[in-house]
Amino acid sequence: MNETTLLETNIEEYLKAHEQKSLLRFITCGSVDDGKSTLIGRLLFESKMLFEDQLAAMEADSQKWGTQGEDMDFALLVDGLAAEREQGITIDVAYRFFATEKRKFIVADTPGHEQYTRNMVTGASTADAAILMVDARKGILTQTRRHSYLMSLLGIRNIVVAINKMDLVDYSQARFDDIVAEYGQFAEQLGLTNVTYLPLSAFKGDNIVTKSANTPWFSAPQYAGTTLMEFLETVEINDAHMQSAPFRLPVQWVNRPNLDFRGFSGTITSGVVKSGDRIRVQPSGKESEVARIVTYDGDLAQAIAGQSVTLTLKDEIDISRGDVISIAQAPAETADQFESTLVWMNEAALLPGRPYLLKVGTQTVTASITDIKYQVNVNTLEHTAAKQLELNGIGVCNLSLDRAIAFDDYKTNKDTGGFILIDRLSNTTVAAGMLHFALRRSQNIHYQHVDVNKQARALTKGQTPSVLWFTGLSGAGKSTIANLVEKKLHALGNHTYLLDGDNVRHGLNKDLGFTDADRVENIRRVGEVSKLMVDAGLIVLTAFISPFKAERRMAREQLADGEFIEVFVDTPLAIAEERDVKGLYKKARSGELKNFTGIDSAYETPEAPEIHLDAANLSADEAAELVITELRKRGIILS
Ligand code: ADX
Repeated sequence: MNETTLLETNIEEYLKAHEQKSLLRFITCGSVDDGKSTLIGRLLFESKMLFEDQLAAMEADSQKWGTQGEDMDFALLVDGLAAEREQGITIDVAYRFFATEKRKFIVADTPGHEQYTRNMVTGASTADAAILMVDARKGILTQTRRHSYLMSLLGIRNIVVAINKMDLVDYSQARFDDIVAEYGQFAEQLGLTNVTYLPLSAFKGDNIVTKSANTPWFSAPQYAGTTLMEFLETVEINDAHMQSAPFRLPVQWVNRPNLDFRGFSGTITSGVVKSGDRIRVQPSGKESEVARIVTYDGDLAQAIAGQSVTLTLKDEIDISRGDVISIAQAPAETADQFESTLVWMNEAALLPGRPYLLKVGTQTVTASITDIKYQVNVNTLEHTAAKQLELNGIGVCNLSLDRAIAFDDYKTNKDTGGFILIDRLSNTTVAAGMLHFALRRSQNIHYQHVDVNKQARALTKGQTPSVLWFTGLSGAGKSTIANLVEKKLHALGNHTYLLDGDNVRHGLNKDLGFTDADRVENIRRVGEVSKLMVDAGLIVLTAFISPFKAERRMAREQLADGEFIEVFVDTPLAIAEERDVKGLYKKARSGELKNFTGIDSAYETPEAPEIHLDAANLSADEAAELVITELRKRGIILS
């Protein structure tokens, strides 16, 4: 029987039988060689989670490999289950369930190599504890340090250093002490406080469920003196810890079945709420009092972290999905710019300036990275400068959101301080992050009201301010056509300005090259400048390759509906290359010029441009005339 069927047929019944018990989530870190699989297999076995036929199969396998009886190779079980998954490079986190008399458990098992950092982060983000496997013969390795750093980053509160394979070092107390001393120093550096050290043999079963006769010295007072199972059964669970934090309820939905009832539903992520409590709704800042705490089983006098409830309030205030209801005396913070740590999880690198969706709790906003302050080398903890973050890269970055959110520092509240970033085009999760603090500038810079506005400026010019965004390959004819359009507009008495790639790159964007990151920044700045010029009442023409959909979309979204007109100058690569006005395609083909659009750098074709110019079959003048006609149709120009 494979694991999936085992889980499908039994898990529901199994969890039901254990409903009343507390649930501990933990993660195991280390490579297969450290005995991680053996340990998990042993825990499953000891908790009697295995079924007869699996046991029989395992015994047969073990005999085949020359082990038997109590030394049965538990790794065979776990590794066998994992084998299919290990074929591809993306290995998902494997979750396993088991239970004892006292508790039920979910263990997240993640591979240890550096390229699996993202899986580890996924598995560990909700963990109450982490078991860090160390081979007693090898001691603390680079990998152990990397995993420890990740655990500290994710704020895992309880760490077990499982010093395994003690049988292979003759259960040596001295060896154990050495490893404890070495790790202790490192843990201090990371600020890890709750560390428990255990001498184990997952293979032989020492100190897993029963205290081992092979390590009598471990009962001395300076040691934990406990078994792994005892630790897992008694260590404090996050939920219990979160009950003492200030009350937070991220609103999942507004429950309004009829005009007489208006409730706000969600799961309490921290703290306690009582009817009559004074609360603050964030980010709006409005305050009220809790009237009722409604559940399926009737009203409650109070509710705690982990419970799903519906609150009704004394006053009618405007609350929508994504808002956070906090206790008024200790509210969350609100801000739109932050410092945060990011773990990048996508094959395509993080590009500062590109807009992503950010989800924290039930809030979703648009965010971009304004600055990568530094990248952290996860093996040495060194800080290095970085222009972008690659897959599995970890960096401390400044973030800017399109509006304020309610949040807590991740260290005090993972639910209101942890977030994910989502790519807007592919809809995939590209990063996990932890909010540190609001940037002061976010509170200190406000929009200044001005009396002469866009409408007033446009009126005196007799035109509708807008951006004609020309995009296409190098040599497609963008600059030529845009130049002609501007000439025609000027002749018609319009107020215009042409921003051209080659020209802007001589001034404002002199510091930028042609890497993906630099192109994103190039277009971000051009988008911002265009927006200012539209505000000045102008018709702006931009002629940039602007190869990426995400940035074209960003430029579009900064403007009002109808103000952004995307003009796709559609010249096939073969034709642009044949023309090769600047001789750049030739250089790119010979390898002299790197990252050239269409050759070794991507051009993402516009899907729904307002104007699509079949530039290969039109003269520049015909193309320009088409644009003018379209502008008249749209009422942007009047004559
Ligand atoms: S963009 O990709 O960032 O939008 P932009 O339009 O500013 O590019 O600049 C493109 C112009 O720079 C091209 O027309 C060409 O003259 C020049 N250029 C120099 N190197 C490159 C390159 N590697 N890729 C594309 N264009 C390049």
